[in-house]
Amino acid sequence: MNARSPFKLVLALLICAVFTLQSQAQPAQTGSSNVRERIPMDAGWHFALGNASDQHRDFDFATIPFFFAKAGYGDGPASPRFDDRTWRTVNLPHDWAIELPFDRRGDGNHGSKAIGRNFPENSVGWYRKSFTIPADDIGRRIGIDFDGVYRDSQVWVNGFYLGTEPSGYTSFHYDMTDYLNYGGANVIVVRVNATLEEGWFYEGAGIYRHVWLTKTGPVHVAQDGTFVSTTVADPTAAHPEALVTAQVTVRNDGDASARFKIVDEIVDAAGKPAGLSITYDAAAPAAGSSDFSATMPVHDAHLWSLEDSYLYKLITTVSVRDKVVDRYETKFGIRTIRFDADHGFFLNGKRVEIEGTDDHQDHAGVGVAVPDTLNAFRVERLKAMGSNAIRTSHNSPTPELLDACDRLGMMVLDENRAMGVTPESFDQFRRMILRDRNHPSVVLWSIGNEEWSLEWSAFGERITRDMQAYGKRLDPTRPFTVALSGSSAGNSLSADVLGFNYYVQHHIDEMHARFPSKPIVGTEESSSEHTRGIYADDLAHQHLVAYDFEADGHHVSVEDGWRYYLARPYAAGLFYWTGFDYRGETTPFDWPAISSQFGMLDTCGFFKDNAYLLQSWWTDKPMVHLLPHWNWPGKEGQPIDVRVYSNAEAIELFVNGKSLGRKQMPRNSHLEWKVPYEPGTLLARGYNAAGGEVASDTVETAGPAAAIQLIPNRSKVAADGESVSVVAVRINDAAGRVVPTAGNLVSFSLTGPGRILGVGNGDPASHEPDKYIETVRTVPVAEWRTRAIDARTDGPETGPGFDDSSWEKARDPRWDEHRVDPPASVFRGAFALPADSDGAAIALVLRSVGETQSIYVNGHALGLNLPRDPVGYTYALDRGLLQPGRNVVTIFATRFTDKGMQLFHWYGPGPAAVQVVTPAPQWQRSAFNGLAQVIVQSTSQAGEIKLKAESPGLAPAEIEIASQ
Ligand code: GAL
Repeated sequence: MNARSPFKLVLALLICAVFTLQSQAQPAQTGSSNVRERIPMDAGWHFALGNASDQHRDFDFATIPFFFAKAGYGDGPASPRFDDRTWRTVNLPHDWAIELPFDRRGDGNHGSKAIGRNFPENSVGWYRKSFTIPADDIGRRIGIDFDGVYRDSQVWVNGFYLGTEPSGYTSFHYDMTDYLNYGGANVIVVRVNATLEEGWFYEGAGIYRHVWLTKTGPVHVAQDGTFVSTTVADPTAAHPEALVTAQVTVRNDGDASARFKIVDEIVDAAGKPAGLSITYDAAAPAAGSSDFSATMPVHDAHLWSLEDSYLYKLITTVSVRDKVVDRYETKFGIRTIRFDADHGFFLNGKRVEIEGTDDHQDHAGVGVAVPDTLNAFRVERLKAMGSNAIRTSHNSPTPELLDACDRLGMMVLDENRAMGVTPESFDQFRRMILRDRNHPSVVLWSIGNEEWSLEWSAFGERITRDMQAYGKRLDPTRPFTVALSGSSAGNSLSADVLGFNYYVQHHIDEMHARFPSKPIVGTEESSSEHTRGIYADDLAHQHLVAYDFEADGHHVSVEDGWRYYLARPYAAGLFYWTGFDYRGETTPFDWPAISSQFGMLDTCGFFKDNAYLLQSWWTDKPMVHLLPHWNWPGKEGQPIDVRVYSNAEAIELFVNGKSLGRKQMPRNSHLEWKVPYEPGTLLARGYNAAGGEVASDTVETAGPAAAIQLIPNRSKVAADGESVSVVAVRINDAAGRVVPTAGNLVSFSLTGPGRILGVGNGDPASHEPDKYIETVRTVPVAEWRTRAIDARTDGPETGPGFDDSSWEKARDPRWDEHRVDPPASVFRGAFALPADSDGAAIALVLRSVGETQSIYVNGHALGLNLPRDPVGYTYALDRGLLQPGRNVVTIFATRFTDKGMQLFHWYGPGPAAVQVVTPAPQWQRSAFNGLAQVIVQSTSQAGEIKLKAESPGLAPAEIEIASQ
């Protein structure tokens, strides 16, 4: 926190005035390519599954001598010479777990996908990407940033090992400067091992967040090297006066000490200058860094709040001898936060009840590979429910989620994955705080969740104290909490803010009395299980009623949880377990259930009734929600449990026009009626205190399913290859009413510059695929034999039936480096076409095996006398050329003229491989209780995306989404 001395203020005002004059003459520099670049690296990775237990099936990785003993000896796919042309091309973010089938041998907590210990063949993924670095980048610092990889990733560039990141959640960075080819091609390789789990929920697999290439000069703002903190004298004033402190760490990667000037400029959301500080004559030692701090006043500060999420930007420029060498932008908000032990939480000096949800990262159709615009959609859905806070249980989130929360006005409890005080634990914790501490949305840190061995032990008390102390050195502006399943001993004794998971598990009032100076928040509450659109338990299908019933003696209802915290204004509020349903944790069911049901929203983001229950307490815009649906054939005359959730003062219920009477709407509760069923219309009218109607809701008995309706959340998307439109699929009757029990199978087709990214329906037991993608397989060409010949390009050796059994076996040249090859040779290898490859596209991919080569398949010439090519050759193979079972590749070659080039390049699938591409099946998904979801993503071309939905017996639907 910054002392607000009058002297500092005057000085800062002076500087500010100077800035205003200067800035009119000299607009802020908008960045130049030789200063700092941050280049997205999401497109065009080659991907294949390796193997967690069989080195041979892991592309012979780690098998050459010295592979880890010497720098630059990465082998298998880690070698830059590995041939990955038969691999599948993917764009990031990518989660390969979501593409796998469900399997009862999979871990139910993880969503029962065929991954993990029982599936070594599906648990290691390799990613390779080529990129060029211009020659004139020499002298710059070039690094690669991974926002998050699940998990245990190893990275190589050009065969040089960069490092291992065990965490599946922490962002990491490698400096690649010395390992790059300047003016040439480079290859980055990532091996991901998702065998082990970190959490007890679906965690995905792969490079599921963004990757960036970062280029700077040798003198530059360090990685996550700014920290903007703000104080506001009186945040409730009409024109608040703020002080903004910019701490900047400048790194000097040069070999001599550097002197430089730092300019910190604050600009408002319109880009107008709002503050300035200049540090002249700053210095950093060679291969070192220095920290600087500047405090600037911002007058009439526009505060960041939930209703008005206003963002400023700090632009830091570093100049050496008047030349700008770095320009770094930090978005921030001006706001105050305070957790008070007696009065709860205050944002900008006003008490705000935390009305939050806990959330994991995954969404229907995409798993954890959530595009930024889908993360924004998720935040918007929670806001629509009236929620004002997310707890990123139980790990640090993707940074773009925090950007969305900053932009949309949602508070965040940012949670560390695991507790510990080892260098590795501190490092994970440090990187989370440094990365996230500029986000105004983040109001509280959590150092861990339900650490059972720390809740009752002296270890817990010590570890919590030390982690908090460490965290405060990195961010003194926010408190720390621990989410507790047990309190009164262990880590609850030392936590700054007591975070209670489930009030029934604690004696919260006693803890408040015992620790009167500790603020309190409910970090998890309720954990009750409900299925969207289900009003009678259907255990055979793992479906549970959506009424907010008390779940069991252990967990409480949504309403009980809310009323408990409302009755305790000393507490800051609560987070419900959970906002969205997530995969895994199928409580109370086992297989074949695959997803949790704790959510207020399902895995697609469709509201369950409980979302409306919260909306009735958490929002002011008049609303009425009526449940259940009104399709109960066979139950005529029987009483149905009808409920109304509303923020109106009174409710009147009508059945087919007959009033069942008006009732006062109890605050923070709900209304119930028992209504004998008769088909028709159920109507609830909501009235204000004066008796005026303010809102209403109707449910009607729907007829048979007749038509599909597609409702996109956005009818325009950016043509950036990333943005999505989230399309709701509704099954309607002939009158356009949703059919609340419909389960029709709908198929989807898309034309134009877009793609379907995934499908879902929120059914916690559905085993339908989330993805319909092409299958790309590599079939090795093996059994290579060779013999010396006179130079020629044809001969009887091309015939599939030719007997080559007396020939020498062709060997991997790595084991025989001193071999002298004959002037010309013939090679024969064979491959077996997979039995299920009908309809697949088959391609033969070869490398040069000599200075010239002539290539045949089953006696048919593909290319004659081809000169050596560093890339190699690819031939689409016509079906007519191929035969079931064994097929033969013959190559006549003359030896390389230079010694450096070996005859066979054995890296990867050998000198040749066959790629078998089976086209994607048609996309489809059953509706679940009338609804399904399709996520449509733009490509980078502009144009009209057309999405069509069809189902037998139903009128089809078609929509257009403009990609611009
Ligand atoms: C909590 C735990 C959550 C989730 C929840 C399910 O104890 O912190 O991660 O497992 O139980 O009820």
